[in-house]
Amino acid sequence: MSSSTQGTTEAAFPVSENVARMQPSSTLAAMQAALAMRNAGVDVVDLGAGEPDFDTPEHIKRAAAEAMQAGQTKYTPTAGTRKLQEAIIGYYKREFGASFAPEQVMATAGGKQAIFNAVVTLCGPGDEVLIPKPYWVTFPEIVTFAGATPVFIDTEETGFQLTAEQVSRAITPRTRLIIINSPSNPSGRVIPPDEFRKILELVAGRGIYAVTDECYLRFVYPPAEVFSAASLPEEIRARLCVAGSFSKTFAMTGWRIGYALAPAAWTNAMLKVQSHSTSNPSSIAQAAAAAAFNSPQGCVAEMLAEYRRRRDWLIKALGEIPGLKCNEPEGAFYAFPDVRGCLKGDVKTSGDFADKLLHDEQTVVTDGAGFGAEGFVRISYATSLDRLEEGVHRIRRVASQLAQ
Ligand SMILES: Cc1ncc(COP(=O)(O)O)c(C=O)c1O
Repeated sequence: MSSSTQGTTEAAFPVSENVARMQPSSTLAAMQAALAMRNAGVDVVDLGAGEPDFDTPEHIKRAAAEAMQAGQTKYTPTAGTRKLQEAIIGYYKREFGASFAPEQVMATAGGKQAIFNAVVTLCGPGDEVLIPKPYWVTFPEIVTFAGATPVFIDTEETGFQLTAEQVSRAITPRTRLIIINSPSNPSGRVIPPDEFRKILELVAGRGIYAVTDECYLRFVYPPAEVFSAASLPEEIRARLCVAGSFSKTFAMTGWRIGYALAPAAWTNAMLKVQSHSTSNPSSIAQAAAAAAFNSPQGCVAEMLAEYRRRRDWLIKALGEIPGLKCNEPEGAFYAFPDVRGCLKGDVKTSGDFADKLLHDEQTVVTDGAGFGAEGFVRISYATSLDRLEEGVHRIRRVASQLAQ
Protein backbone atom coordinates (compact mmCIF):
# COMPACT_ATOMS: atom_id res chain seq x y z
CA MET A 1 0.00 0.00 0.00
CA SER A 2 1.51 3.38 -0.92
CA SER A 3 1.65 6.06 1.76
CA SER A 4 -0.92 8.13 -0.11
CA THR A 5 -3.51 5.35 0.17
CA GLN A 6 -2.87 4.67 3.85
CA GLY A 7 -5.40 5.93 6.35
CA THR A 8 -4.47 9.35 7.75
CA THR A 9 -4.24 8.06 11.32
CA GLU A 10 -1.74 5.40 10.28
CA ALA A 11 0.31 7.80 8.14
CA ALA A 12 0.48 10.29 11.00
CA PHE A 13 1.62 7.81 13.62
CA PRO A 14 5.05 8.92 14.84
CA VAL A 15 6.92 5.61 14.72
CA SER A 16 10.33 5.48 16.37
CA GLU A 17 13.45 5.89 14.24
CA ASN A 18 14.34 2.22 14.57
CA VAL A 19 10.97 1.07 13.33
CA ALA A 20 10.82 3.67 10.54
CA ARG A 21 13.89 1.99 9.03
CA MET A 22 12.25 -1.47 8.95
CA GLN A 23 10.43 -3.04 5.99
CA PRO A 24 7.34 -5.23 6.43
CA SER A 25 7.94 -8.98 5.85
CA SER A 26 7.59 -9.74 2.13
CA THR A 27 7.11 -13.46 2.78
CA LEU A 28 4.19 -12.82 5.11
CA ALA A 29 2.77 -10.39 2.52
CA ALA A 30 2.83 -13.17 -0.12
CA MET A 31 1.00 -15.48 2.31
CA GLN A 32 -1.66 -12.87 2.93
CA ALA A 33 -2.14 -12.22 -0.81
CA ALA A 34 -2.76 -15.95 -1.35
CA LEU A 35 -5.17 -16.12 1.57
CA ALA A 36 -7.18 -13.14 0.33
CA MET A 37 -7.57 -14.72 -3.14
CA ARG A 38 -8.50 -18.09 -1.68
CA ASN A 39 -11.12 -16.45 0.56
CA ALA A 40 -12.55 -14.84 -2.57
CA GLY A 41 -13.05 -18.34 -4.03
CA VAL A 42 -10.11 -18.28 -6.48
CA ASP A 43 -8.27 -21.55 -7.21
CA VAL A 44 -4.88 -20.35 -6.00
CA VAL A 45 -1.74 -22.47 -6.19
CA ASP A 46 0.29 -21.27 -3.26
CA LEU A 47 3.99 -21.93 -3.70
CA GLY A 48 4.80 -19.08 -1.35
CA ALA A 49 4.42 -20.99 1.91
CA GLY A 50 7.28 -20.73 4.36
CA GLU A 51 5.90 -23.49 6.53
CA PRO A 52 5.36 -27.26 6.37
CA ASP A 53 2.08 -28.50 4.96
CA PHE A 54 2.16 -31.38 7.49
CA ASP A 55 0.26 -31.36 10.76
CA THR A 56 2.17 -31.45 14.06
CA PRO A 57 2.76 -35.14 14.92
CA GLU A 58 0.18 -36.68 17.28
CA HIS A 59 2.59 -37.56 20.11
CA ILE A 60 3.66 -33.91 20.32
CA LYS A 61 0.07 -32.66 20.48
CA ARG A 62 -0.69 -35.27 23.12
CA ALA A 63 2.19 -34.04 25.29
CA ALA A 64 0.77 -30.51 25.08
CA ALA A 65 -2.72 -31.68 26.03
CA GLU A 66 -1.33 -33.65 28.98
CA ALA A 67 0.68 -30.65 30.16
CA MET A 68 -2.47 -28.53 30.13
CA GLN A 69 -4.45 -31.15 32.03
CA ALA A 70 -1.63 -31.41 34.57
CA GLY A 71 -1.90 -27.69 35.25
CA GLN A 72 1.30 -26.61 33.51
CA THR A 73 -0.41 -23.37 32.66
CA LYS A 74 1.65 -20.88 34.65
CA TYR A 75 4.73 -18.75 34.01
CA THR A 76 7.93 -20.73 33.68
CA PRO A 77 11.48 -19.45 34.16
CA THR A 78 12.38 -17.08 31.28
CA ALA A 79 14.95 -19.63 30.03
CA GLY A 80 12.24 -22.29 29.88
CA THR A 81 11.33 -25.28 32.02
CA ARG A 82 14.15 -27.47 33.25
CA LYS A 83 12.46 -30.31 31.32
CA LEU A 84 12.77 -28.47 28.01
CA GLN A 85 16.32 -27.31 28.74
CA GLU A 86 17.28 -30.92 29.48
CA ALA A 87 15.54 -32.13 26.32
CA ILE A 88 17.56 -29.62 24.24
CA ILE A 89 20.81 -30.53 26.01
CA GLY A 90 20.11 -34.26 25.54
CA TYR A 91 19.30 -33.81 21.86
CA TYR A 92 22.54 -31.94 21.08
CA LYS A 93 24.54 -34.50 23.05
CA ARG A 94 22.97 -37.45 21.21
CA GLU A 95 22.89 -35.92 17.74
CA PHE A 96 26.09 -33.86 17.68
CA GLY A 97 28.17 -34.96 20.69
CA ALA A 98 27.95 -31.37 21.98
CA SER A 99 27.77 -30.60 25.71
CA PHE A 100 25.83 -27.61 27.01
CA ALA A 101 25.12 -26.50 30.59
CA PRO A 102 21.64 -25.17 31.46
CA GLU A 103 23.13 -21.62 31.74
CA GLN A 104 23.91 -21.85 28.01
CA VAL A 105 20.40 -22.81 26.93
CA MET A 106 17.24 -20.75 26.70
CA ALA A 107 13.82 -21.36 25.22
CA THR A 108 12.42 -18.65 22.95
CA ALA A 109 9.16 -17.92 21.15
CA GLY A 110 10.44 -19.36 17.86
CA GLY A 111 13.88 -19.24 16.28
CA LYS A 112 13.10 -15.68 15.26
CA GLN A 113 13.18 -14.51 18.87
CA ALA A 114 16.48 -16.32 19.44
CA ILE A 115 18.03 -14.37 16.54
CA PHE A 116 16.46 -11.13 17.74
CA ASN A 117 17.79 -11.64 21.28
CA ALA A 118 21.26 -12.50 19.99
CA VAL A 119 21.54 -9.46 17.72
CA VAL A 120 20.12 -6.80 20.02
CA THR A 121 22.27 -7.90 22.96
CA LEU A 122 25.46 -7.59 20.91
CA CYS A 123 25.09 -4.98 18.18
CA GLY A 124 24.40 -1.26 18.07
CA PRO A 125 25.26 1.90 16.15
CA GLY A 126 28.66 1.73 14.49
CA ASP A 127 28.66 -2.08 14.30
CA GLU A 128 28.57 -3.95 11.00
CA VAL A 129 26.82 -7.28 10.68
CA LEU A 130 27.71 -9.59 7.79
CA ILE A 131 24.73 -11.16 6.05
CA PRO A 132 25.35 -13.47 3.07
CA LYS A 133 22.98 -12.99 0.12
CA PRO A 134 20.40 -14.25 -0.51
CA TYR A 135 19.23 -13.90 3.09
CA TRP A 136 16.14 -14.61 5.11
CA VAL A 137 14.16 -11.35 5.01
CA THR A 138 14.22 -10.86 8.77
CA PHE A 139 18.02 -10.72 9.23
CA PRO A 140 18.66 -7.18 7.93
CA GLU A 141 15.52 -5.88 9.64
CA ILE A 142 16.65 -7.09 13.07
CA VAL A 143 20.11 -5.62 12.49
CA THR A 144 18.58 -2.31 11.44
CA PHE A 145 16.27 -2.35 14.44
CA ALA A 146 19.34 -2.74 16.68
CA GLY A 147 20.81 0.39 15.04
CA ALA A 148 23.67 -1.56 13.46
CA THR A 149 24.50 -1.74 9.75
CA PRO A 150 23.87 -4.83 7.60
CA VAL A 151 26.77 -5.56 5.22
CA PHE A 152 25.81 -8.02 2.52
CA ILE A 153 28.08 -10.68 1.08
CA ASP A 154 27.41 -11.46 -2.57
CA THR A 155 27.54 -15.21 -3.25
CA GLU A 156 26.18 -15.42 -6.77
CA GLU A 157 29.65 -16.19 -8.18
CA THR A 158 29.59 -19.50 -6.25
CA GLY A 159 25.95 -20.35 -6.99
CA PHE A 160 24.94 -18.91 -3.57
CA GLN A 161 27.36 -21.19 -1.74
CA LEU A 162 29.04 -19.13 1.02
CA THR A 163 32.82 -19.55 1.28
CA ALA A 164 35.38 -18.51 3.89
CA GLU A 165 37.11 -16.46 1.24
CA GLN A 166 33.98 -14.39 0.58
CA VAL A 167 33.58 -13.82 4.32
CA SER A 168 37.22 -12.84 4.67
CA ARG A 169 36.88 -10.17 1.95
CA ALA A 170 33.85 -8.61 3.69
CA ILE A 171 35.40 -8.19 7.17
CA THR A 172 36.26 -4.65 8.29
CA PRO A 173 37.43 -3.31 11.67
CA ARG A 174 33.75 -2.63 12.45
CA THR A 175 32.50 -6.17 11.84
CA ARG A 176 30.85 -7.39 15.00
CA LEU A 177 28.75 -10.35 13.92
CA ILE A 178 27.93 -12.66 11.03
CA ILE A 179 24.55 -14.36 10.61
CA ILE A 180 24.69 -17.68 8.77
CA ASN A 181 21.67 -19.72 7.74
CA SER A 182 22.31 -23.23 6.44
CA PRO A 183 20.27 -24.89 4.99
CA SER A 184 19.33 -21.56 3.53
CA ASN A 185 15.99 -19.92 3.14
CA PRO A 186 15.55 -19.01 0.26
CA SER A 187 18.29 -20.77 -1.76
CA GLY A 188 18.18 -24.23 -0.16
CA ARG A 189 21.99 -24.25 -0.20
CA VAL A 190 23.77 -26.23 2.50
CA ILE A 191 27.30 -25.20 3.53
CA PRO A 192 29.53 -28.31 3.63
CA PRO A 193 30.83 -29.01 7.18
CA ASP A 194 34.50 -28.30 6.31
CA GLU A 195 33.71 -24.90 4.81
CA PHE A 196 31.37 -24.07 7.68
CA ARG A 197 34.14 -24.86 10.16
CA LYS A 198 36.59 -22.72 8.17
CA ILE A 199 34.20 -19.76 8.17
CA LEU A 200 33.60 -19.94 11.90
CA GLU A 201 37.30 -20.41 12.67
CA LEU A 202 38.05 -17.37 10.56
CA VAL A 203 35.52 -15.11 12.27
CA ALA A 204 36.26 -16.33 15.81
CA GLY A 205 39.97 -15.76 15.11
CA ARG A 206 39.18 -12.14 14.21
CA GLY A 207 37.11 -11.60 17.38
CA ILE A 208 33.83 -11.60 15.45
CA TYR A 209 30.70 -13.29 16.79
CA ALA A 210 28.43 -15.61 14.82
CA VAL A 211 24.76 -16.53 14.90
CA THR A 212 24.01 -19.77 13.08
CA ASP A 213 20.35 -20.11 12.20
CA GLU A 214 19.51 -23.83 12.27
CA CYS A 215 15.85 -23.46 11.42
CA TYR A 216 16.07 -26.08 8.63
CA LEU A 217 18.74 -28.18 10.37
CA ARG A 218 17.14 -31.58 9.65
CA PHE A 219 16.02 -30.94 6.10
CA VAL A 220 19.18 -31.89 4.27
CA TYR A 221 19.26 -34.30 1.33
CA PRO A 222 22.19 -36.72 1.16
CA PRO A 223 24.93 -36.66 0.02
CA ALA A 224 24.80 -33.20 1.68
CA GLU A 225 25.36 -33.54 5.43
CA VAL A 226 23.48 -32.32 8.47
CA PHE A 227 25.84 -30.11 10.45
CA SER A 228 25.45 -28.07 13.63
CA ALA A 229 28.03 -25.47 14.59
CA ALA A 230 27.26 -26.58 18.16
CA SER A 231 29.61 -29.51 17.49
CA LEU A 232 32.64 -27.21 17.03
CA PRO A 233 35.39 -26.73 19.65
CA GLU A 234 35.13 -24.40 22.62
CA GLU A 235 37.28 -21.61 21.04
CA ILE A 236 34.63 -21.23 18.35
CA ARG A 237 31.65 -21.75 20.60
CA ALA A 238 32.90 -18.90 22.82
CA ARG A 239 31.65 -16.50 20.11
CA LEU A 240 28.73 -18.51 18.78
CA CYS A 241 24.98 -18.40 19.29
CA VAL A 242 23.04 -21.27 17.72
CA ALA A 243 19.45 -20.24 17.00
CA GLY A 244 17.22 -23.31 16.81
CA SER A 245 13.58 -23.86 16.02
CA PHE A 246 10.91 -26.55 16.33
CA SER A 247 8.80 -24.82 13.67
CA LYS A 248 9.89 -26.62 10.52
CA THR A 249 11.49 -29.81 11.90
CA PHE A 250 8.32 -30.86 13.71
CA ALA A 251 5.74 -28.88 11.71
CA MET A 252 5.09 -26.58 14.70
CA THR A 253 5.10 -23.08 13.20
CA GLY A 254 2.01 -21.97 15.12
CA TRP A 255 3.33 -23.11 18.50
CA ARG A 256 6.04 -20.42 18.51
CA ILE A 257 8.85 -22.33 20.12
CA GLY A 258 12.60 -22.28 19.56
CA TYR A 259 15.80 -21.94 21.54
CA ALA A 260 19.22 -20.31 21.73
CA LEU A 261 22.49 -22.05 22.65
CA ALA A 262 25.23 -19.58 23.55
CA PRO A 263 27.96 -18.87 26.10
CA ALA A 264 26.51 -18.24 29.57
CA ALA A 265 27.29 -14.50 29.54
CA TRP A 266 25.57 -13.99 26.18
CA THR A 267 22.62 -16.11 27.32
CA ASN A 268 22.37 -14.00 30.45
CA ALA A 269 22.10 -10.83 28.38
CA MET A 270 19.49 -12.45 26.13
CA LEU A 271 17.49 -13.50 29.19
CA LYS A 272 17.49 -9.91 30.37
CA VAL A 273 16.00 -8.72 27.06
CA GLN A 274 13.46 -11.54 26.88
CA SER A 275 12.41 -11.18 30.54
CA HIS A 276 11.37 -7.58 29.82
CA SER A 277 9.64 -8.34 26.53
CA THR A 278 7.87 -11.70 26.14
CA SER A 279 9.09 -13.53 29.29
CA ASN A 280 8.94 -17.30 28.79
CA PRO A 281 7.51 -18.92 25.67
CA SER A 282 4.15 -20.65 26.22
CA SER A 283 4.40 -23.34 28.91
CA ILE A 284 2.29 -25.65 26.76
CA ALA A 285 4.45 -25.21 23.67
CA GLN A 286 7.47 -25.92 25.86
CA ALA A 287 5.98 -29.27 26.98
CA ALA A 288 5.27 -30.12 23.33
CA ALA A 289 8.81 -29.20 22.29
CA ALA A 290 10.35 -31.34 25.05
CA ALA A 291 8.32 -34.30 23.76
CA ALA A 292 9.46 -33.55 20.20
CA PHE A 293 13.15 -33.80 21.15
CA ASN A 294 12.75 -36.68 23.63
CA SER A 295 10.77 -39.00 21.32
CA PRO A 296 11.92 -41.19 18.43
CA GLN A 297 12.57 -39.05 15.34
CA GLY A 298 10.65 -41.16 12.79
CA CYS A 299 8.19 -38.35 12.05
CA VAL A 300 11.07 -36.12 10.91
CA ALA A 301 12.45 -38.84 8.65
CA GLU A 302 9.01 -39.28 7.06
CA MET A 303 8.66 -35.56 6.32
CA LEU A 304 12.21 -35.43 4.96
CA ALA A 305 11.51 -38.33 2.59
CA GLU A 306 8.40 -36.61 1.26
CA TYR A 307 10.24 -33.27 0.79
CA ARG A 308 12.96 -35.09 -1.08
CA ARG A 309 10.45 -36.75 -3.42
CA ARG A 310 8.95 -33.33 -4.18
CA ARG A 311 12.33 -31.65 -4.59
CA ASP A 312 13.54 -34.26 -7.07
CA TRP A 313 10.37 -33.92 -9.12
CA LEU A 314 10.36 -30.11 -8.96
CA ILE A 315 13.99 -29.53 -9.94
CA LYS A 316 13.65 -31.80 -12.94
CA ALA A 317 10.40 -30.09 -14.00
CA LEU A 318 11.84 -26.58 -13.59
CA GLY A 319 14.86 -27.60 -15.66
CA GLU A 320 12.51 -28.21 -18.59
CA ILE A 321 10.92 -24.74 -18.48
CA PRO A 322 12.31 -22.23 -20.97
CA GLY A 323 13.95 -19.16 -19.44
CA LEU A 324 14.40 -20.69 -15.97
CA LYS A 325 17.70 -21.86 -14.46
CA CYS A 326 17.74 -23.63 -11.14
CA ASN A 327 20.51 -25.10 -8.97
CA GLU A 328 19.64 -28.27 -7.13
CA PRO A 329 19.05 -27.19 -3.52
CA GLU A 330 20.61 -29.55 -0.93
CA GLY A 331 18.25 -28.60 1.88
CA ALA A 332 15.19 -26.78 3.28
CA PHE A 333 12.00 -26.93 1.15
CA TYR A 334 12.59 -24.23 -1.44
CA ALA A 335 13.78 -24.02 -5.03
CA PHE A 336 15.26 -20.68 -6.08
CA PRO A 337 15.28 -20.41 -9.87
CA ASP A 338 16.87 -17.60 -11.83
CA VAL A 339 14.06 -16.10 -13.94
CA ARG A 340 16.14 -13.47 -15.75
CA GLY A 341 15.65 -15.42 -18.98
CA CYS A 342 11.95 -14.51 -18.70
CA LEU A 343 12.35 -10.76 -18.21
CA LYS A 344 10.89 -9.17 -21.28
CA GLY A 345 8.64 -6.21 -22.18
CA ASP A 346 6.68 -5.09 -19.13
CA VAL A 347 8.12 -7.91 -17.06
CA LYS A 348 11.33 -6.17 -16.05
CA THR A 349 12.00 -7.62 -12.62
CA SER A 350 11.46 -10.85 -10.74
CA GLY A 351 8.75 -8.96 -8.83
CA ASP A 352 6.95 -8.30 -12.15
CA PHE A 353 7.33 -12.00 -12.98
CA ALA A 354 5.80 -13.00 -9.62
CA ASP A 355 2.97 -10.47 -10.13
CA LYS A 356 2.24 -11.80 -13.62
CA LEU A 357 2.08 -15.33 -12.28
CA LEU A 358 -0.33 -14.22 -9.58
CA HIS A 359 -2.61 -12.24 -11.86
CA ASP A 360 -2.55 -14.41 -15.01
CA GLU A 361 -2.29 -17.82 -13.37
CA GLN A 362 -3.29 -17.31 -9.71
CA THR A 363 -0.02 -18.84 -8.58
CA VAL A 364 1.99 -17.48 -5.70
CA VAL A 365 5.79 -17.50 -5.67
CA THR A 366 7.95 -15.12 -3.65
CA ASP A 367 10.03 -12.42 -5.34
CA GLY A 368 13.74 -12.93 -4.74
CA ALA A 369 14.32 -9.17 -4.37
CA GLY A 370 13.06 -9.33 -0.77
CA PHE A 371 15.83 -11.86 -0.08
CA GLY A 372 18.47 -9.66 -1.72
CA ALA A 373 18.41 -11.57 -5.02
CA GLU A 374 16.61 -9.62 -7.72
CA GLY A 375 16.11 -11.86 -10.78
CA PHE A 376 15.17 -14.95 -8.75
CA VAL A 377 11.95 -16.28 -7.26
CA ARG A 378 11.44 -18.65 -4.36
CA ILE A 379 9.22 -21.66 -4.94
CA SER A 380 8.17 -23.54 -1.83
CA TYR A 381 7.55 -27.27 -2.13
CA ALA A 382 5.91 -27.45 1.28
CA THR A 383 2.75 -28.37 -0.57
CA SER A 384 1.35 -31.60 -2.03
CA LEU A 385 2.84 -33.01 -5.20
CA ASP A 386 -0.54 -32.53 -6.91
CA ARG A 387 -0.56 -28.80 -6.21
CA LEU A 388 3.10 -28.55 -7.12
CA GLU A 389 2.41 -30.15 -10.51
CA GLU A 390 -0.44 -27.74 -11.14
CA GLY A 391 1.76 -24.78 -10.09
CA VAL A 392 4.62 -25.82 -12.35
CA HIS A 393 2.17 -26.23 -15.20
CA ARG A 394 1.05 -22.62 -14.69
CA ILE A 395 4.62 -21.34 -14.33
CA ARG A 396 5.49 -23.06 -17.61
CA ARG A 397 2.63 -21.25 -19.38
CA VAL A 398 3.87 -17.83 -18.21
CA ALA A 399 7.57 -18.55 -18.74
CA SER A 400 7.07 -19.99 -22.24
CA GLN A 401 5.22 -16.86 -23.26
CA LEU A 402 8.04 -14.61 -21.99
CA ALA A 403 11.14 -16.59 -22.88
CA GLN A 404 10.61 -16.79 -26.65
C1 LIG B 1 15.71 -18.98 7.86
C2 LIG B 1 14.70 -18.88 8.95
N1 LIG B 1 15.14 -18.65 10.18
C3 LIG B 1 14.29 -18.55 11.22
C4 LIG B 1 12.93 -18.66 11.03
C5 LIG B 1 12.07 -18.49 12.22
O1 LIG B 1 11.25 -19.52 12.49
P1 LIG B 1 10.42 -19.58 13.83
O2 LIG B 1 10.46 -18.25 14.48
O3 LIG B 1 9.06 -19.99 13.42
O4 LIG B 1 11.11 -20.62 14.67
C6 LIG B 1 12.43 -18.88 9.74
C7 LIG B 1 10.99 -18.95 9.49
O5 LIG B 1 10.49 -18.86 8.39
C8 LIG B 1 13.34 -19.01 8.68
O6 LIG B 1 12.93 -19.26 7.43
